[in-house]
Amino acid sequence: IADIKGGPDEGLDRLGHSLVVRGWVRTIRMQSSVTFIELNDGSCLSNMQCVVSSDAEGYDQVEAGCISTGASIVVHGIIVGSPGSKQKVELKADKIVMVGESDSSFPIQKKRVSREFLRTKAHLRPRTNTFGAVARVRNALAYATHKFFQENGFVWVSSPIITASDCEGAGEQFCVTTLIPTSQEALDSSAGTIPTTDEGLIDWSQDFFGKPAFLTVSGQLNAETYATALSDVYTFGPTFRAENSNTSRHLAEFWMIEPELAFADLNDDMACATAYLQYVVRYILENCKEDMEFFNTWIEKGIINRLNDVAVKDFVQLTYTDAVNSLLKANKKFEFPVKWGFDLQSEHERYITEEVFSGCPVIIRDYPKEIKAFYMRQNDDGKTVAAMDLLVPRVGELIGGSQREERLEILEARLDELKLSKESYWWYLDLRRYGSVPHAGFGLGFERLVQFATGMDNIRDAMPFPRTPGSAEF
Ligand code: 4AD
Ligand code: MG
Repeated sequence: IADIKGGPDEGLDRLGHSLVVRGWVRTIRMQSSVTFIELNDGSCLSNMQCVVSSDAEGYDQVEAGCISTGASIVVHGIIVGSPGSKQKVELKADKIVMVGESDSSFPIQKKRVSREFLRTKAHLRPRTNTFGAVARVRNALAYATHKFFQENGFVWVSSPIITASDCEGAGEQFCVTTLIPTSQEALDSSAGTIPTTDEGLIDWSQDFFGKPAFLTVSGQLNAETYATALSDVYTFGPTFRAENSNTSRHLAEFWMIEPELAFADLNDDMACATAYLQYVVRYILENCKEDMEFFNTWIEKGIINRLNDVAVKDFVQLTYTDAVNSLLKANKKFEFPVKWGFDLQSEHERYITEEVFSGCPVIIRDYPKEIKAFYMRQNDDGKTVAAMDLLVPRVGELIGGSQREERLEILEARLDELKLSKESYWWYLDLRRYGSVPHAGFGLGFERLVQFATGMDNIRDAMPFPRTPGSAEF
């Protein structure tokens, strides 16, 4: 359907051509002499209106009421001009083939259903306009991400999902457990289920073949090893956080994009983050026009103008100290205290992007070292580190990054100060022992980018199968 309707003439250039469309019925309207079927194949937002008259082969299925919302069908026909105002062309059917009937209990009927309800139907929600559009824009953002980094000479590196390190040091890791069947009988009798220790079938060891291991919270430390060999690299993969937060911006499983730049400082890092964000925003504005118009009308009014601004305007930059001062001056009561040395909460971040700088992305840099991770490069003031967070309206923190501490003695002293074991970071310290270079990078939460780019309020609606505390169905 996208192939026919996506062209400049919206299909008028194909009048008289024959066409076969395979898809799922959105609506069916029977009139005395003809039946109209709105068919969607997921390639774009638009449906193909199929006009079926009684002489079409397979019309008996229509008459028998077999073709209902949700059913999958194939329609063969000829593209003709449409007298309707909603589309330029329609498909005059000569043959209609039923593929899979849809039970009358199909939960997504035409009337608008809430997004909360659709989360309980995650297996069927991609059949709706909203979730189809989110999936296509998410795909376009992923494609544009690879395109941006590849065009700029970055090498894509896969970072491990199972790891012994806690990059962020926040202790928010899921533990990996090994299931070892005690015997072949135990394995056979388990029949795909997970037997418990009580059943005496499985030896649950609390570790990864005898060593502690976790699901990664970030691929950064691994990316640093490749950046100090191949120069600029990036990762793009799943990461996990065992934080028990039920907010509209947190997932237990999310995808992160983590570029790491060699021979680079914090300014290079901020320039890269800005260029990347502007590139992917421009990409979807140019390549996902129909879906973006849909978001602009139905999800967030004005999102296209807002993104157009993001694509061309400079981002605001200020230091953490200036950000705290502007919050202290704010004529607003915050729930969490504002004080130099305290982390900024999402209410503070939103105030800065939405009120102080009215809707523009803001980069805050030079945070107090106490509230940031061990690997960040210390500034000369002895109090702050070369860190940056990029904040956007509505979502808050989209990117977190820093210049990394490349000086061996200072990094070792910091590990000691934080009582972190130098032994377990031996390989990370080696990078500072053998040809250390200034380097910097950042992490961008992909679902937060999808939220920002589509206007979806809740991060659960930016991920096909969201994982939040207690929910791992589907
Ligand atoms: O700020 P964070 O924790 O930074 C790091 O992990 C660094 N190691 C990144 C780096 O420098 N290579 O996370 C980076 C980003 C955040 O800005 C946010 O967009 C996203 O990851 N993020 C989450 N997204 C969804 N759900 C969560 N629970 C998230 N936690 C972080
Ligand atoms: Mg962060």
